[in-house]
Amino acid sequence: MKILIDSANIHSIKQLSDYYQIEGVTTNPTILAKEQSDYLQQLREIRQLIGENKMLFVQTISENATDIVEEAKKIISEIDENVYIKVPAIREGYKAMKELNQLGIDTLATAIYTAQQALMAARCGAAYVAPYVNRIDNVSGDGIKVVSEIIELFITHRLKTEVLAASFKNVNQVHKCSLVGAQFVTASPDIIEELHFHPCSELSVDQFTIDWKERFGKLTI
Ligand code: E4P
Repeated sequence: MKILIDSANIHSIKQLSDYYQIEGVTTNPTILAKEQSDYLQQLREIRQLIGENKMLFVQTISENATDIVEEAKKIISEIDENVYIKVPAIREGYKAMKELNQLGIDTLATAIYTAQQALMAARCGAAYVAPYVNRIDNVSGDGIKVVSEIIELFITHRLKTEVLAASFKNVNQVHKCSLVGAQFVTASPDIIEELHFHPCSELSVDQFTIDWKERFGKLTI
């Protein structure tokens, strides 16, 4: 399972990319609205920071297919042709996914709440689907079960579409996604930090340092 950063904050993206193996960055309108810069400027800065080989996902904002397709073209022309276009899984969104697929533009179907939505998006040509794990849990659903069913459906029906699970509020949700075989997860910077951290690891290293210094003083390796 590969990890993406669900943030448009330059400082956070740089920090995480310096320390960990990150496959790219996902954004949505809410995430971009949190930053001070012009959104295109922000996205170009992110691209410059992560490089052209990393994945960058940008979401459209319109609610009709024609405008979604136009927005996708604009995003690509303003940033670059490697950008993945996130299209919400609403009625007009499916139509837009089909049109974008015909144009050779890779899409991610976002705001997925059911396995059938994911299957329909895959049939419309979406390269990725993003089930919203925590938001599903919050409406009395079972986010992990939805992820698991999507993976099963894609295998059963021999679909190439991959699962990029999104919307996490804790490490356990991410862990369970990895167990059921999600190809990607996108998580906020604080969750990504938590994935790498355990206090016992820190304590172990503290003890190694104490033992080394006791025996060897300031000697280094
Ligand atoms: C990513 O594609 C989604 O926009 C994002 O993960 C939603 O996360 P949230 O439910 O924490 O806002």
